Amino acid sequence: MAETLILPKTGTKEDKYKALLPQVKALMAGEEDHIANMANISAALKEAFGWLWAGFYLVKDDQLVLGPFQGPIACTRINYGKGVCGTAWEQAKTVIVPDIDQFPGHIACSSSSRSEIVVPLKDQSGKVFALLDIDSAELGAFDETDQKYLEQLVSALSAEG
Ligand code: SME
Repeated sequence: MAETLILPKTGTKEDKYKALLPQVKALMAGEEDHIANMANISAALKEAFGWLWAGFYLVKDDQLVLGPFQGPIACTRINYGKGVCGTAWEQAKTVIVPDIDQFPGHIACSSSSRSEIVVPLKDQSGKVFALLDIDSAELGAFDETDQKYLEQLVSALSAEG
């Protein structure tokens, strides 16, 4: 297993994703445990982009429960339909929030968070079993480029079953 990520020091966000994705997929290829893979994905995303918080919530019964992450301590449980994560779970689709102050019901785990993206992970029947949540201290940090590459990233995890 490679122990360090090789990332471009300059270039666009897309350049970083293009460098990161094959390395993360290679890391996951040798490991079938979801928690281990989620832990490494969180670390890789945090290292590559320096976001405030990057991690996972896992669907357990009727709630989301905090999973592997990198960043400040976070809320441990989120209800269905609540906050950005609960909304992405309910809608079973990616939610981008450019300004968290404009999202009614946003759950503030960190007062430094300004924008957010949440990407659902679905099993082979299309049921959401986890969510990737990323927070930035900058307004408007996430767009369709993030959505495209992060969805590709989690689909590799989902494909494991
Ligand atoms: N802001 C999220 C809660 C999770 S933290 O950002 C880590 C939400 O509204 O669902």
